[in-house]
Amino acid sequence: IPQERIRNFCIIAHIDHGKSTLADRLLEFTGTISQREMKEQVLDRMDIERERGITIKAQAVRMIYKADDGLEYLLNLIDTPGHVDFNYEVSRSLAACEGALLVVDATQGIEAQTLANTYLALEHNLEIIPVINKIDLPSAHPEEVKKEIEEVIGLPADDALLISAKEGIGIKEVLEAVVKKIPAPKGSEDDPLRALIFDSLYDSYKGAIAFVRVMEGSIKPGQTIKMMSTGKTFLVTEVGIFSPDMETTDCLRAGEVGYVVAGIKNVKDTRVGDTITDAERPAQNPLPGYKKAVPMVFSGMYPADGEDYEKLKEALEKLQLNDAALYFEPETSAALGFGFRCGFLGLLHMEIIQERLEREYDINMITTAPSVVYKIKKTDGEEIMVDNPTNFPDPSKIEYIEEPFVEAQIMLPTEYVGPVMELCQDKRGIFKDMQYINEKRVILRYHMPLLEIIYDFFDQLKSRTRGYASLDYEFIGYFKSDLCKVDILVNGEIVDALSFIVHKDKAYYRARQIVEKLKEVIPRQLFEIPIQAAIGGRIIARETIKALRKNVLAKCYGGDVTRKKKLLEKQKEGKKRMRQFGKVELPQEAFMSVLKMG
Ligand code: GTP
Repeated sequence: IPQERIRNFCIIAHIDHGKSTLADRLLEFTGTISQREMKEQVLDRMDIERERGITIKAQAVRMIYKADDGLEYLLNLIDTPGHVDFNYEVSRSLAACEGALLVVDATQGIEAQTLANTYLALEHNLEIIPVINKIDLPSAHPEEVKKEIEEVIGLPADDALLISAKEGIGIKEVLEAVVKKIPAPKGSEDDPLRALIFDSLYDSYKGAIAFVRVMEGSIKPGQTIKMMSTGKTFLVTEVGIFSPDMETTDCLRAGEVGYVVAGIKNVKDTRVGDTITDAERPAQNPLPGYKKAVPMVFSGMYPADGEDYEKLKEALEKLQLNDAALYFEPETSAALGFGFRCGFLGLLHMEIIQERLEREYDINMITTAPSVVYKIKKTDGEEIMVDNPTNFPDPSKIEYIEEPFVEAQIMLPTEYVGPVMELCQDKRGIFKDMQYINEKRVILRYHMPLLEIIYDFFDQLKSRTRGYASLDYEFIGYFKSDLCKVDILVNGEIVDALSFIVHKDKAYYRARQIVEKLKEVIPRQLFEIPIQAAIGGRIIARETIKALRKNVLAKCYGGDVTRKKKLLEKQKEGKKRMRQFGKVELPQEAFMSVLKMG
């Protein structure tokens, strides 16, 4: 199929607006997958994705479509992740396309990620085709949604397609629009090779496989390629396409989307956003926009059972094979022993990794409250980056501290503006502006510390708006803040893994909350346990856990043995996630309690 009949496109949408369902219908309609083979949402391959209904890894699939003009077209659909944590991956997937289907739920209207993704698509000069989905639902109001698209996004929406992905209504019209409206790729096959890596996958036989969009030139087996960000070279052994499983072909040409196998041992050598060129006839410049994925959120992960340390290490190594954005290094904590400091793109990324470690690798873990990365200027002039509160220098050695800020975009019904502004204020947000989407909904923009966003912001936003708000945010830079470290002492000793960073104005309040919370979650002992919060040695809050009088086993004295055994068994279970600290046992909740504060 000649280049002028190739269409590379993606689907952008807010979570749950029906992106995967539409993708499924397109695959079905083009006969790429027979209905029998059709598992729901084939594009979401990982179990966790399916369960949580979110798309994490970008995937691609090739379809052949015979259009109304009688010609066959080659359509490459590149799937994009919908969540803010993976914005950079979204941006790379978009860069691999010429057009995008903008799916908006007819009952919901545009949401935060609709807007964020559309702006990204516009930055990449994509042709955007508005598609209003779920018109089968009685509460659908497509005319209003059209108006929103025109007024808020500024895209003409008169001929927006009205479809139901679920019922299969309007699918053919979507394919016709892709063929008619999205431009064909332009790059020349005779130019030096430039291929954009938009995703990668680790295969135990083939190594790291790069998913690419060839912009100019071509790639075939036998060719030596070079990664432009690192200069490393590899010999191509296989190229192919996704239909939707990987299928070998003899060559990938300018305009095409496919995969490259080249004996690459490590996914770190197939960095998303990097440009592949020919080692013998290299292109002059890489494709624009390459950024190394930087972890923004850090947390400590410790095996609940110290013996699992090696197992945890191996599991992290395995996960990293497929996830170049996951960072980890060994760390030791006085309270938790040997473990790892792990870095993530965001909270969701962190939760996914934790869940996979527990579920797929069967490791019980104790995780510490997440932290952001602080920039600290010391009095001796040195500037350091600190991702763990434990490593904060002594306050007397700190000239100033900077913390990462984001611009948050919140969409919500007007009646909740009051409570949400209050929440943002409370989270140290700086109001930027408010824009009306229509008489019922608004967009609020705030500049806010990332730290406050990762502490419970989303949950509170949802509860204050009864689930009607959506949020998107973007890192904007480091700014000075008046922060301090609060240490927690249990039984007179600092528990390093419980130290946290807080704005000075809120230090007392949060210290109070956390000692109260710890009082609830730490089991009583035969002696009294003081719990204190301190800033640089000065105690600012205190609670006491009263001594326990009775023995748990006393109840079953003389009673039946199995019951006693069961009780002990149960205690052992509970202990797995406990940490002995001096004479005191700390449960997992203790380490996360810092998160659940207003
Ligand atoms: P993420 O992968 O989380 O970004 O979600 P998504 O945008 O891929 O949404 P998905 O396709 O998973 O659809 C979300 C929900 O909406 C599912 O329960 C679908 O069955 C439902 N849905 C999708 N399209 C339609 C439609 O046309 N009509 C109705 N009634 N429901 C739909």
